[in-house]
Amino acid sequence: MRSFLVAGNWKMHGDSAGIKQLLSDLLKSLPAEPGIDIAVFPPSVYVAQVAADMAATPVAVGAQNVCDQSGQGAFTGEVSAAMLGDVGCQYVIVGHSERRSLYGESSQVVAAKAKAVLAAGLVPVVCVGESDAERENGQTLDVISAQLAPVFSALSGEELKKIVVAYEPVWAIGTGKTASPEQAQEVHAFIRALFAKRDESTAAKLRILYGGSVKAANAATLFAQADIDGGLVGGASLDAKEFSAICRAAE
Ligand code: PGA
Repeated sequence: MRSFLVAGNWKMHGDSAGIKQLLSDLLKSLPAEPGIDIAVFPPSVYVAQVAADMAATPVAVGAQNVCDQSGQGAFTGEVSAAMLGDVGCQYVIVGHSERRSLYGESSQVVAAKAKAVLAAGLVPVVCVGESDAERENGQTLDVISAQLAPVFSALSGEELKKIVVAYEPVWAIGTGKTASPEQAQEVHAFIRALFAKRDESTAAKLRILYGGSVKAANAATLFAQADIDGGLVGGASLDAKEFSAICRAAE
């Protein structure tokens, strides 16, 4: 059985006081022992503090981005996966569509980042997803394949067992337009089949999250799909009530 993961991607939102409040509200509304994994992904400057504050709670902490280089070195402005691990971070989002489109991250760089995250002992959440135009042109599955190909080349079979994949159709992110449960399921099943070509048991255990306008109102029907193992939640993760309702829908 795969355990569900609900991940809150805060993007570039919040300040010290607001984050304290959000976490305190969230802890009050979450079950004391949720039957799923829950993680929040604050902006990088807040990761250490949030990880320290959440250490004795069911809420794990992740980062939204990471350097593709391991070790230390002359990489001005970058944060390494080892540094994130050092301050208590457990997950790292790599290849979010905003990083691909706004900061020019290629699928090769995304794969290198996933590798660096694994080398530091953390879990990469590898994001893939097609644009509106790509879906219209019937290219969705080809796009997903192409985005995952460098991941399959860069990661060993053992490493592939440790990653999480998030399917986030670009046209559904922050737009209020969610993929229908059937549209999402089709792509999730396709992603699982791509992994199964490498290794059946890896595919069976792989957690594939859906992201793109997940809300309390649509979470349960999405999570009821056979190959959806949780959500990567943007906007709704900034609201403690919404986010905890999404977590409950996954339970
Ligand atoms: P959204 O964002 O839930 O606001 O659509 C999802 C994401 O970008 O991870």
